[in-house]
Parts: sequence; structure tokens; C-alpha cells
Amino acid sequence: MDPNPAPKAPDAGEAIAKAPPCTLVIFGAAGDLTKRLLMPALYNLAEGGLLDDAIRIIGVDHNPNTDEGWRQSLSDTMQSFTTDRTSEFHPEHIDPRAWGFVRERLTFRQSDFTAPETFSGLAGALTGNVIFYLAVSARFFGPIVDALGEAGLLKEAEGAFRRVVIEKPFGSDLESARALNTRILKRGAESQFFRIDHFLGKETVQSILAIRFANGLLGPVWHRDHIDHVEITAAETIGVEARGAFYEPTGALRDMVPNHLFQLLCMVAMEAPATLDAEAVRDEKARLIQAVRPIPLTDAVRGQYAAGQEHGHSVPGYREEPNVAGDSHTETYVALKLGIDNARWAGVPFYLRTGKRMAGRVTEIALHVRAPAASPFAGPDGAVAPDVLRFRIDPEQGLDLVLNAKRPGPRMDLGRVTAAFDYGDFFQETPSVGYETLLYDCMIGDATLFQRADSIEAAWAAVEPLLRAWAEAGVEAYPAGSDGPAGAEALLAREGHRWSPLGAG
Ligand code: BG6
Repeated sequence: MDPNPAPKAPDAGEAIAKAPPCTLVIFGAAGDLTKRLLMPALYNLAEGGLLDDAIRIIGVDHNPNTDEGWRQSLSDTMQSFTTDRTSEFHPEHIDPRAWGFVRERLTFRQSDFTAPETFSGLAGALTGNVIFYLAVSARFFGPIVDALGEAGLLKEAEGAFRRVVIEKPFGSDLESARALNTRILKRGAESQFFRIDHFLGKETVQSILAIRFANGLLGPVWHRDHIDHVEITAAETIGVEARGAFYEPTGALRDMVPNHLFQLLCMVAMEAPATLDAEAVRDEKARLIQAVRPIPLTDAVRGQYAAGQEHGHSVPGYREEPNVAGDSHTETYVALKLGIDNARWAGVPFYLRTGKRMAGRVTEIALHVRAPAASPFAGPDGAVAPDVLRFRIDPEQGLDLVLNAKRPGPRMDLGRVTAAFDYGDFFQETPSVGYETLLYDCMIGDATLFQRADSIEAAWAAVEPLLRAWAEAGVEAYPAGSDGPAGAEALLAREGHRWSPLGAG
């Protein structure tokens, strides 16, 4: 008998069906993503009773290891999360039953990602449903998909699925993204490829569609007639640290904008899909991204952190980080003004910003509502402070509506108030790293939260003018621990706007 049968799914609400049996083949088994995110996600799925008893997990990596060695090192890492408050996953304890379920289904193959024997070996070992997870450096995406195709591993026969999960970055510009799409789509159908954007695994991001389209209150104001401008922020306090080799040729624009920030943009700006069917949702997202006007150089600011402070400690500048050139022009910060050419949003500026080593860790979307055209409360400048609706995505999770109210007292004075909800006050928090839904959805074949080829290409097309111009351009310094470069304030000041403060982080 199986000593670690799948734990039971929770009773609350409608029971969620177990994913079908499959083999998950992880290329990059020794990598960071596997340890930090995929294993915790599998563990959480096992704890929720959502994995089939017959699931198998095969790790492939060129680093030497054995089945038992891999299992032990992952067990140690899982255990270490209980005392590491900085990890994405920090449970109080590891449930031995749920982890045992995952652990005993792990096997390891030391293989080269480019050697044909790797794939002929896998072909001999695999039957039925298989997910190939490419948790590897982007340069291996094309070669691995080719090799899977050559070995016949992507042929779907007798109802068995063959799927490939591709991590980011998907291409480094429009041309390379197109080339990669063309290359992989020679080997399988679009429906077999699951391009991940981990922001879509965040509950608070998925919830934006629910808040927008399941409530009657907000829809009527979601329009250029009522929304003055929108801010989308993904600010981090961490620096580039050990990731210099990846970050130097990448930079903040490629790392965050056409993927994560554009996904947030889609959630807040797309039209309502007719249904929640994957293609209906992805059609609307693609339409929205296609309506983003290519961003002119004058509407973009890039910055790079210099030495400064993080939480009271001195931290080095980007150019002092390991594997970074002493005269690097790579940006660690970007701020953009976007225009969307459609009837709903024409003329409404969407301001996007993201950066490392900033004053606070904040991911949020703020919609600034137009002030009433005339108000008995208007001050001498003829206006009242506009309302703001703020989706708090990370690390705070909730929604704020900032309004004007009467300040108690004999006079009719206004004060700013916030009507807020926190997810934790209403829903039981289940520890999650965001990859649970993505893995589960891939297993059940639901592509809603994955990026389709057309959206990826449209996003690269929108940022293409900047990629070209910035290849040669300089970069504005900002001190680590600050709000970013002065140019970013100036970008908004041009239209009388200001960024929301980042808080103390
Ligand atoms: C990753 C980027 O995709 O997203 C990182 O490569 C960034 O540079 C990270 O730090 C941010 O994700 P999150 O979920 O921590 O906000």
C-alpha cells in the first residue's frame, strides 16, 4: 500500500477535482526555481489532495545527483523554509504526509539538455500524459522543444496529453519572440505550450477580473469619461545581487514590462470577456495589448541604482554588484507613459513603473477617478481631491477606495478617508507561492492564465522603440532606497500628476 496516499481535498465550497495522472518532467531540477517555487507548489497541491496518486516527477539536470540525493536536498530545502522568513514559502512546519507524497514520487536523471540521448532515454521511459517544465535558462527553450519534437515526445496519442511549460523570458525583443514562437509551433500545437507569467498565479491579480466584472458598482466608471489616469507599480527593495549575469543583458524593461506589468495592465484595462473560457479571456487580452501604442522615447525614463540604504543598511550600487560591468548602462528602473488606442481608454495615461532597490516593496494598481465637474466643496482652485481606487497586489493584499468625507466638527470641512478591505479578513489564507494554480491548470489543460503567442508578440512590439533606442542610451542614477530617478517624477509632472508614495516598505 502507498505509505503516503494523497491527502484529502478540503471540504469548503465545491470540491476541486484532482488533476489527472501525469508525469512532470522538470528540466533544471537543480535550479533555484525548482527548489523555491515548484516543490512548494507541488507540496501545497498534495496537501490539498489535488494530485493523483499516479503522478511522477522526473528531475533532469546536468549537475550530478541521484534519486535519493535529490530527494534529500529538496527535503532539506523544504525544511529550511520554516525558518526563513524571506522565502516566498514560509510555512510553520512541513506536513510529513504531504511532503512524503511528493518526495517518494521524485526521480532524478543526470542528463545534458542538448544531448539526443537525454531525449531518447526519456522517450523510452515515458507513456501517457506528460508535462515538460522548462525551468532552464532561456537559451535552452528552443533546443529542448526541438529535441522533444525530434524524439516524438510531443505527439499526443490515444487521449494522452503532451504539454510544455516555458518560463520567462520569452524572447528578448519582437524578432526573437517571433522566432521562438515559430520554432516551437513547428513542434506542437499552440494548445500544447503554456508560457508562464508568474504574476498571473497571484490570487490578487486573478481577483481583479472578479472585482471588475462581478460587481455592478464599478463597471460604469471604468471608462475615459471617469478615469483620469492609472498607475501600475511593481517596486522592489531587493537589488540584483547574485543575478548580475542574467540581469546585465536583460534590464528592468525586458525583465518586468512586456510580461508582468502588461499582464497587470490587461487585468485592469481589458474588455469583459463573454465567458471565462481560456480563449475568450486571452482574446480580450490580446486585443488590449494590440491597442497599446508603441511607446515613444519621450514617454519613458530609465534609471540605475547607485549605492544607498536598504532598511538602514548600506547597500552597493548596481555597478558594484557581482557580474556587472563597472560602466554598465543596464537599467534597474523604468517608468513609462502608455496610451491605449481604443474607445474606452483613448487619452487616458497609463503610467507604469518598476524598479529594484526602491524605498518600498509595493505591487499595486491605482485608478485615479476624475473629480466631479462641479462641486459645492470645491476649493479656490475649483476642484476637490479626486477619488482613488487602489488594488493592493503585493505584499499587502486588498483594495482601497480613497474618498473625501466630512471631518467631524462644526464646520463642513473635508478629510481624506480610506474604505478598505484585506483579503485576510474575509478569506482563509492558504500558504501559496502562486505556482500551485499554474501547475494545476496546466495539468487540467486550462490555459487561461498562460500567455498566448499573439499577446507576447504584441507586448514586445509595444516596447520595441525603447529597446532599440536604449541600446545606446545613458541611464539616470538614483540612490538605492529612494523613489527612483527624478526623471520619473518629471514624466508625470508634465500632466500635473504624481506617483503614489511607496511607503516605508
Ligand atoms: C521576476 C523577475 O520575473 O519577477 C525578477 O525576473 C523580479 O527580477 C520578480 O524580482 C518579481 O516577482 P514578485 O512576485 O516577487 O513580485
